[in-house]
Amino acid sequence: MTASKVLEGKVALVTGASSGMGRATTALLASHGANIVCCDLNPKPNPKGFEKDLHLTTVEVVEQLGQKAIFCQVDISNLKQVEEAFTKAVETFGRLDINVNCAGFWAPFGPFGEETDELWQKMVAINTLGTSKCMRLAVKQFMKQEVDEALGSRGRIVNVSSCAGHFSFPGEVAYSATKAAVNHMTRAAATDHAKDYININVVAPGVVHTGMARGNIEDKDISALMKKSTPWPRLGTTQDIAESIVFLCLPGSQWITGQLLAVDGGMTLGVPYPT
Ligand SMILES: NC(=O)c1ccc[n+]([C@@H]2O[C@H](COP(=O)([O-])OP(=O)(O)OC[C@H]3O[C@@H](n4cnc5c(N)ncnc54)[C@H](O)[C@@H]3O)[C@@H](O)[C@H]2O)c1
Repeated sequence: MTASKVLEGKVALVTGASSGMGRATTALLASHGANIVCCDLNPKPNPKGFEKDLHLTTVEVVEQLGQKAIFCQVDISNLKQVEEAFTKAVETFGRLDINVNCAGFWAPFGPFGEETDELWQKMVAINTLGTSKCMRLAVKQFMKQEVDEALGSRGRIVNVSSCAGHFSFPGEVAYSATKAAVNHMTRAAATDHAKDYININVVAPGVVHTGMARGNIEDKDISALMKKSTPWPRLGTTQDIAESIVFLCLPGSQWITGQLLAVDGGMTLGVPYPT
């Protein structure tokens, strides 16, 4: 099906845009007509990714779709770099309509008692503070703009947390806690800014085929546990996540705010049927 150009003239800033869910979301937003500010540590995709076009940067993917894109080298835990990226976005495209926060940090599973202060500091700096900084800058820019008639709102923010933010998965306490913070800051900020016609929602993925998850997917024991914990007969794809994120950026979702959308093959529903 050909995508409609419902986001023609709209501008999206996506963090973690070079790989995985951020890259798939960027491509889908561009196919709907948006121009994109691609923010990431690296312009090239994660070489461990499952993408078939790993030789292309995300900027090149967007350009092939006929839209404009710029790359901003940003570590979201570096608050000055985040500010520069938002400034560059508005300098380049004149406005901002959508902010998707996919960039995140995960560390291999380990027991809680052995998690270090450094691990916690890095998790908080990237997943919680970095996401919060992006959200606040997006809100500030949205507040300078009028309510967009076509979009039905002043701007959209979609965060990416994790199923681990609302149920317990073994061996990732620091990660889970920082993703739970993303879930709750989504709800709280959405409450603050509903009156301003700003939608803020969060997508919580289950296990998805990306470079970040490749080690788990290729580990026989971890993979068996993840498949057993996912009632749906397959694990997730970046397209599953991108479709949900983009839904939350389209006119049809304009009355949805502060919601957590679990896109996880049912992983967080309860105990799966024995197989
Ligand atoms: N893959 C999964 O199974 C899974 C499950 C639940 C949640 N998540 C979350 O989904 C999000 C996207 O991850 P993915 O699986 O697509 O991984 P990925 O490795 O394919 O992509 C992550 C991208 O984020 C970038 N990035 C990492 N740290 C950054 C930082 N500090 N500043 C800017 N960019 C940074 C990386 O360079 C990479 O391009 C993450 O927030 C992750 O925690 C992933």
